[in-house]
Amino acid sequence: MTSLLSLLRSVGGRSLHLPVHGRGAALPPSLQRLLRQPPGRWDLPELPEIGGPLEAEGAVAASQARLATALGVDRCWFGVNGATGLLQASLLAMAQPGEAVLLPRNVHRSLIAACELGGVMPVFLPVPFLADRGHPGAMSVAGLRRSLDTLPDPGCRIAAAVLVHPTYHGYAADISGLLDLLTARGLPVLVDEAHGTHLAFPSRSALPASAVHAGADLVVHSLHKSAPGLAQTAVLWQRNGRIDPERVQAALQRLQTTSPSALMLASCEATLDWMLSPRWPVLLEARQCDATTLATVLARAGVPLHSGDDPLRLILATGQAGISGLEADDWCMQQGLIAELPEPLCLTFCLGFAQHRGLARQFRRLWQRLLDEAGGEPLALIPAPPCDRVSVPVLLPDEALRRPATRLPVARCIGRIAAELICPYPPGVPLLVPGERMDAQRCAWLEQQHRRWPDQVPGMVKVLA
Ligand SMILES: Cc1ncc(COP(=O)(O)O)c(C=O)c1O
Repeated sequence: MTSLLSLLRSVGGRSLHLPVHGRGAALPPSLQRLLRQPPGRWDLPELPEIGGPLEAEGAVAASQARLATALGVDRCWFGVNGATGLLQASLLAMAQPGEAVLLPRNVHRSLIAACELGGVMPVFLPVPFLADRGHPGAMSVAGLRRSLDTLPDPGCRIAAAVLVHPTYHGYAADISGLLDLLTARGLPVLVDEAHGTHLAFPSRSALPASAVHAGADLVVHSLHKSAPGLAQTAVLWQRNGRIDPERVQAALQRLQTTSPSALMLASCEATLDWMLSPRWPVLLEARQCDATTLATVLARAGVPLHSGDDPLRLILATGQAGISGLEADDWCMQQGLIAELPEPLCLTFCLGFAQHRGLARQFRRLWQRLLDEAGGEPLALIPAPPCDRVSVPVLLPDEALRRPATRLPVARCIGRIAAELICPYPPGVPLLVPGERMDAQRCAWLEQQHRRWPDQVPGMVKVLA
């Protein structure tokens, strides 16, 4: 059995996955210098001069205050438990037990867990479905307006709303328009911008707007998915004063480790400072140019690609050539090309911020070989999930998890209440949430998903007994 340590030393191949620093090549230069010191020198506790994200004094507090000012917001907190930890604390700061929050249907599973932890009822808002690739798309302003006009009464106060922008695959929303609609209804808004950190920083090309500048109350950035920091690092930005920072602080205190890693906190600081430096827009433009050129060259060579709003996410349309993204992923991995997100109809690569010399040639060659070995008739499209209306689970997710349950084949779950989360990861978008009642359409759709994705979508589901 190979140990983790020896694997970390030996894993090779080309990394086109998260974290996007490309196995260290694109880490901020100041962090690279720190890591060249004798190993472990930097592994320090919360000494008074260092402090931590929740301390009023120390270097971390000073960095957080300085960076909040630089971004034009009121407060920020570094996070060492990914976007997950900061999203969960944000939701708990916005909603009390017994209240509801509006969540887009493509919300990340971490926020369902936050609803479970906080006794909060999710109210799901539909998002478009891109049938040619089987992806949830970005919510539109017209779609959100329709949802808000047809909101059912969840039986409790709606305390806040959450938006996802951009999506895992890089589909961006008109974030200002969405925020205007929600704030006009008096709702504070948390935006999960895990995949859009770079949108908030200076750039030479026109990028979609960031929620940080578009008026969101709370915004979470992953500093390893869309910025070149170490895995698990993230940042939460706050502005507007509609959410009490004391409540954010208290929620973070409940969830955060009491021993945050000094290395990760230093990575947060170094990454954000790097993205505010004059060299960042030059690097970002270079990587985006490389990515656009790569997509053009591949498309000209007949490699089927889907387009998105983020050139750094390359979506290979494997289904068009009769190959599932899961099969293509296994094959690419064996050939030393490591992708990020395999799905039934696509394989998504994260190009990240490191330079990839010779990638177009390697990619073209590998695609041609895969096509020769496994290509065939285009795969059937994935039908849209039957989730095109605003919906509220019939039970609080937390309550559904606690009640006695039994496991049944999906086809026998019609009319039953789900007692577990079904959620392929990646991308971490739930297909079924505890507390939701399963109708015939949902069961038929889940059965289809199971056939396409048997390792990720089980054929048996836990339902209330
Ligand atoms: C949209 C979105 N939000 C949040 C997260 C959680 O991020 P992390 O893995 O950094 O905790 C993910 C992870 O895939 C995600 O895709």
